[in-house]
Amino acid sequence: MRLKSLERALKLFLPPILTEPVRRRRRARNDRPYDDIPDRAFYDGVFSPWQGYGEFGPILARMRPHTRVSPERAWVLYSLARQALALDGAFYEAGVFRGGTALMLAELIRSTGRAHPLHLFDTFAGMPQTDPGRDIHRAGDFADTSLDGVRGTVGADAFIHYHPGYVPDTFAGREADRIAFAHVDLDIYKSIRDSCEFIFPRLLPGGFMVFDDYGFMSCPGARQAVDEFFAGRPEVPLVLPTGQAVVFRGFAG
Ligand SMILES: C[S@@+](CC[C@H](N)C(=O)[O-])C[C@H]1O[C@@H](n2cnc3c(N)ncnc32)[C@H](O)[C@@H]1O
Repeated sequence: MRLKSLERALKLFLPPILTEPVRRRRRARNDRPYDDIPDRAFYDGVFSPWQGYGEFGPILARMRPHTRVSPERAWVLYSLARQALALDGAFYEAGVFRGGTALMLAELIRSTGRAHPLHLFDTFAGMPQTDPGRDIHRAGDFADTSLDGVRGTVGADAFIHYHPGYVPDTFAGREADRIAFAHVDLDIYKSIRDSCEFIFPRLLPGGFMVFDDYGFMSCPGARQAVDEFFAGRPEVPLVLPTGQAVVFRGFAG
């Protein structure tokens, strides 16, 4: 307090060249406690674990070369998937591309030692037909990938199941699945709408669906598909600043 009034008095009578050292001293005094807090390096304004904090760091480093998903979005996925590991259900990813986020899910499942099935759905050959009235992506986008390449990245463990082909055709035969966690990263209207129709009724109470591209200007069909599907349902998609939307399946039914 006393230092502040001194500075105010100095400011009235002295040029800045003389008041600046006082200001600098005060700033230093105020800053000192922040330097001492635990995990200081991971506060970028706020605590920012998506920069690679703790056990997430090595996973982020491994997935980054193989994904279009930013660290912030990967962190959301990682945190929700970790919670879903407590459920006795399958993990789904629809929209795999080169396997970056699938690799993260596989690593998490491996780390538990319990074999949650991980089902991966994609053409593994690029975007199918899109709807020019709703989508900006075009058929053939994301073609620079292959099933063999993704298997090499994500793994060939017995708990990982690859379903190459067109969603929703590749859901056929999986009607008995109970799903703990689904990452829907398909970018286009029909693919996302079809995934909601199949996955949501099979989502376990306590489970999550994460829509990667809900808020992206490049994916207007994603928001339309999610909003239409959940309109009138009790589950309200939680829209995040990352562009993702998360749906929690409650315990009520
Ligand atoms: C944005 S990429 C997925 C990104 C990935 N999760 C990552 O970590 O980078 C979207 C993928 O969805 C796939 N896709 C979209 N609609 C599909 C459909 N109906 N059937 C199969 N794959 C589809 C595309 O082939 C593309 O690989």
